[in-house]
Amino acid sequence: MCGIMGVVGAKDAVSILVEGLQHLSYRGYDAAGVAVLTDKGQIEIRKSAGSLDKLKSLLVGEPVNGRTGVGHTRWATHGAPTDCNAHPHTDASGKLAVIHNGIIENERALRQKLAGEGYVFRSQTDTEVVAHLIAKYLGETCDLHCALQKTLQIISGAYALVVMYADEPDRIYAARKDSPLVIGIGKDAGYVASDIPALLPYTREMLLLEDGDVARVTKDAVIVWDRDDVITERLPKTITWDQEAADKGEHMTFMDKEIDEQPDAAERLLASPLMRHAVPERVSFVACGSAYHASIIGRELLGRLAQIPADVKIASEMRYEPELPLDDTLCLAVSQSGETADTLAALRQSKRRGAKAAAIVNVQDSSIAREAESVQWMHAGPEIAVATTKGYTTQILSLLRLALEWGKTREVLSARDAREWEEQLNRIPGLMRETLADRDRVDQFATAHIAPRLVFFIGRGLDYATALEGALKLKEISYLNAEAYAAGELKHGPIALIENDALVVAVCTQSELTSKTISNIREVKARGASVLALCRKSDEARLKAEADEVWTLPDAPDAVMPLLAILPLQRLAYETALLRGCSVDKPRNLAKSVTVE
Ligand code: M6R
Repeated sequence: MCGIMGVVGAKDAVSILVEGLQHLSYRGYDAAGVAVLTDKGQIEIRKSAGSLDKLKSLLVGEPVNGRTGVGHTRWATHGAPTDCNAHPHTDASGKLAVIHNGIIENERALRQKLAGEGYVFRSQTDTEVVAHLIAKYLGETCDLHCALQKTLQIISGAYALVVMYADEPDRIYAARKDSPLVIGIGKDAGYVASDIPALLPYTREMLLLEDGDVARVTKDAVIVWDRDDVITERLPKTITWDQEAADKGEHMTFMDKEIDEQPDAAERLLASPLMRHAVPERVSFVACGSAYHASIIGRELLGRLAQIPADVKIASEMRYEPELPLDDTLCLAVSQSGETADTLAALRQSKRRGAKAAAIVNVQDSSIAREAESVQWMHAGPEIAVATTKGYTTQILSLLRLALEWGKTREVLSARDAREWEEQLNRIPGLMRETLADRDRVDQFATAHIAPRLVFFIGRGLDYATALEGALKLKEISYLNAEAYAAGELKHGPIALIENDALVVAVCTQSELTSKTISNIREVKARGASVLALCRKSDEARLKAEADEVWTLPDAPDAVMPLLAILPLQRLAYETALLRGCSVDKPRNLAKSVTVE
């Protein structure tokens, strides 16, 4: 969701800005722009709605050169995705340029006040308010640092802001609150970006800003002030990922690569240490989207393997619930990016209510990881495609490991059970490889079902979570009308939608529940639906007698089946999206990291 790139002191700022924005484009955007300080000391802006290619063409037609600049990919929140609303935004003099991720919540009141004072707005964005406010304080004999600090005291909401000013040409300023910003320390240049991959081609020495920080970046130094405007030391980190991990390599898309990486990610995770945390009395999961589906599985696993009661909350809904105490509860936030605004808010709210806080996170130094007392790292490696795949399975595997560990500590699992589980865990990467190998059946099925009017995913118990995730994958990247239902709920309403042209994907991997889901398959078949069933190899004959098509999965304990059953469903969504000509890695209207409420 929105991308920020800035550079000071480079030979060719524009090419660095454009390349950086390219690396950030996976976050989702609908407009892009750059501001460059020319050798004549003027700020020149090029920006347009649409893709980065449009911006590049603009730059070919109207080139601009300079050593310092800022660039942005915008995902519209305040105002439509138009040229005029694209960032950077300037003040009236054109000497100041601002880019911004996040939302300024008191924008409307500030806009009215500034308009009353004679400031003229050219866009509908909240960011333009920031440009005028800084300009106002610059006019009151402040320097840029002082004007920015005054502005930050007035605005509320979430932001990562980067500002450049023609009268202070050797520097850019960056400020963060609830939205990530990384400073890159290069040999001959300074950099700032909203995410690490944008900076990897230039430097591995990075400094991660904390909430409330303001940084001044020049070509050879960085000074950071904390939330009290006191100069503070933030130690740089050396980023060890190789660029390849953030590149597509041989694959056509990031999603294809990330689907295939799942067995390796599982292996990495199994070889890594487990989060240390006292066994909780009860757990309350907070998460969004796929992480919410993984949490449903987590709730079931904690109950079955450790007898720990747990509930799962959609993070965006939590803020409306009564603020009852959560003293004996561990709030477990599950988030690939570690930056999802609703999950972060739910974690904070739980802490205020007395809960302990832990998190399952992929991205190091992300906001959720920093605010949790304990973190279980997912070890998925960079996930770029908007539709999560390896993020989802590493979340489930993390939860399975935690449930087993706590089950052992609570003596719910005997020493023998625990040993057997060790073996089962070690088999998982191999079982995932075996499941992923069978690609042809998925391709053929996708070709035969390219445009069903309606797709229902059904399942019971853990299979219901897989159904939810399978439907989300299909709808988010292929734009098909896909919904998931607990199989037993069909007859309470949704079955009214079943006609001859409906496709039903029945997930039947749970040993005790397969017979029951078979009766639901019969119900939908009787009303004309075609049925694709997913089951264990040992249930193949049973399901073949019921469904139009059957995909089998290797036999494994029930608790492991969600890690396998989702793999062909990810692939199905992927192939369907390709066949329908959809933008697989960057589906319409979606962003990788949802940093606004
Ligand atoms: O980064 P997070 O795990 O917190 O993201 C949560 C959801 O936004 C995310 O899982 C989303 O639903 C994915 N696009 C689904 O593929």
